Amino acid sequence: MRGENGKTLAAAENRCRDTNCRRRPNPHRHGSIFGSPHFHEAVHQRYSVEQVVDECATTEWAMKPSLEVFAPDALWLRDYFVRVGGARVNARMTLIKLRSGEILVHSPCAFDDSLTAEVAALGPIAAIIAPGNFHWLHVRSCQRAFPDAATYVCPGVEKRAKGLAFEFVLGDEIPRLWANELSQIVLRGTRLMREVAFFHRASRTLILVDLVENFTPATPGTNLLSRIVFRGLGMWNRPGPAPEYRLAWGDKSQVREDLERILAWDFERVILAHGDIITRDARQIVAQAWRKILR
Ligand SMILES: [Fe+2]
Repeated sequence: MRGENGKTLAAAENRCRDTNCRRRPNPHRHGSIFGSPHFHEAVHQRYSVEQVVDECATTEWAMKPSLEVFAPDALWLRDYFVRVGGARVNARMTLIKLRSGEILVHSPCAFDDSLTAEVAALGPIAAIIAPGNFHWLHVRSCQRAFPDAATYVCPGVEKRAKGLAFEFVLGDEIPRLWANELSQIVLRGTRLMREVAFFHRASRTLILVDLVENFTPATPGTNLLSRIVFRGLGMWNRPGPAPEYRLAWGDKSQVREDLERILAWDFERVILAHGDIITRDARQIVAQAWRKILR
C-alpha cells in the first residue's frame, strides 16, 4: 500500500509529524528511543517529553497496589512505570505529611478512585507540587482528585504545560505552608531541565526528581532496552543526573553553587523519581553522581 509521495503507508506513519522538519528517524534505529518518531518530534517539534511519554505510555504503565511507607507518619512513596519509546523506567510520587496533618503531593502520578481514597485517608491534601519542568504530566489528574489543593510548580512548568492551572511558582522564598519543615532550592543555571530540590528535615531526607537517577539490576520495571540505553549512557549501576541535564548544563558555575548548597543539607537518604532510592552513604553517592559538574 502506498502513501503520499510514493512512500509506503508504514513509512509515512513513521514520519515526524512536523511538516517543517526535513529530518527523518533513522530506519536502523527503529525500536530505540532515539529512532522513535515520538522522540524525533520531541526534539524537532518542541513537543514536551511529557507529551511523548503520554503518547508512548498508553497501556504499559502500572502501579504498585498501595502506598509504601518511607518514614512513618511522614513520607509515603508510590512507584509506577512509564515507557519512553520502547524503554521502560520507573517513576515515583512522594507524599509528605506536615505536622499540621496536611499532605503535600510531590510529583504526582495518575490518580484513580482507589489511590484517591488511599491518599485522602492520610489527611487533607493541602498542596500539589510539580517539582521539575519534566514532572507535571499527572498534575491535572491529581487536581481532579483533590480540587481544593493548591498547586505549586517549578519555574518553567508554566511555559511547558500550556493551560495547566496553578496557584504558585516556586522560588527562593519557601511557602509558609511547609517552611518550618522543608527546605527548598530552585536549581539555577540549567538550560533544558529545571528542578526544585527539597530537604525534609525531620527524616533527614533529600527529595529530588531528575538531579540523580539510580538504575541498578534491583530497579523494578526496567526492560532490556532501558538497560541497554542506561549502559550506553554510563548510568547503569552508576547514579548520575538525568541525560537531559548533561545535554545542557548552561551556567555551570551557578549550577555548581546550587548543588553545593544542596550537599550542605544534612541528609542521610534520598528519594528520587527514577531508579532506586538511596538509603546508605547518601551524601557520598550524591556527590559522586555530581562529580563532573562539581569539579
Ligand atoms: Fe523525570
